[in-house]
Amino acid sequence: MNDIYEMMSTLRAVRRLRSDPIPDDVLDRVLQAAAWAPTGGNMQPWRVVVVRSDAQKQALADVYRPAWYRYAKGYDARNDQLPPEEAAKGRRNRAAGDYLADHLHEAPVILMFVADPKMMAITDAKLDRISMVGGGSVYTAVQNAMLAARTEGLGCVLTTLHCLAEDEVKSALQIPEDWATLAMVPLGYPVGKGHGPISRKSTETLAYDDVFGVAWN
Ligand SMILES: Cc1cc2nc3c(=O)[nH]c(=O)nc-3n(C[C@H](O)[C@H](O)[C@H](O)COP(=O)(O)O)c2cc1C
Repeated sequence: MNDIYEMMSTLRAVRRLRSDPIPDDVLDRVLQAAAWAPTGGNMQPWRVVVVRSDAQKQALADVYRPAWYRYAKGYDARNDQLPPEEAAKGRRNRAAGDYLADHLHEAPVILMFVADPKMMAITDAKLDRISMVGGGSVYTAVQNAMLAARTEGLGCVLTTLHCLAEDEVKSALQIPEDWATLAMVPLGYPVGKGHGPISRKSTETLAYDDVFGVAWN
C-alpha cells in the first residue's frame, strides 16, 4: 500500500544499504519529487549533486567517518544515562550509525543537497537568535526526495555531520565557495527490512490548541 500516510509513518532512518545500482528511472522519480517541493518565493535556491562515482563517494565517506566517530563519543555518554530499554535502542542506533560511517562509500548513490544563501529571502536573518528559516527552502525538497525513495523501496537517511568538514566536501564536489551544504542522503536498497515502524512523540505533546502550552485534545 503506497498511501502517503503509510509512507510517512514508516520513513525511518535506514543506514544499512546494499551496493546494488539504482535504476535511472527510479532516481529520476526521486529527483522529480524533490523538485516539486515548495520554497520561499518559489526561488528554488537548492541544487542536488547526485554522487555516483567511486572517487567522489570515497571523498564523502572520508569526511563523514571521523565526524561520525567524534559525534558518537558524546552519543555514548548520553546513552549511558538512559533507562535500560532506551539505552539498548540507543546502542542499536549507534551500531547502525557505525555501519553507515564504515560503508558510506558503498552506497550506490549519495545525494548532496546544497543551496545558495543569496537566493533566499531569510525572514529571520536579523533576529537576535540563530536563523532557521533559510533551511526551510531546502529541507522540503529533502523530505520529498526521502518520501519518494521510501515509496520506491529505497532506504535512506538524512545526515548532516559532513558539515563539520564542509570545505572538504565542497572541494571534492566542486561546490562554489559561497554555497552551503544542507543534507547528505545516502540512497540504496536496504540490507535488511529497511523502512518500518517509527517511534515519535504524540500530537498531544507536539501540538498546542490556540496558544503555546495548551495541550491539543
Ligand atoms: C537535521 C537532521 C540531521 C541528521 N543528521 C544525521 C547524521 O549526521 N547522521 C545520522 O546517522 N543520522 C542523522 N539524522 C537522522 C536522525 O538521527 C533520525 O532521523 C532520527 O534519529 C530518527 O530516526 P528514525 O527515523 O529511525 O526513528 C539526522 C536527521 C535530521 C532530521
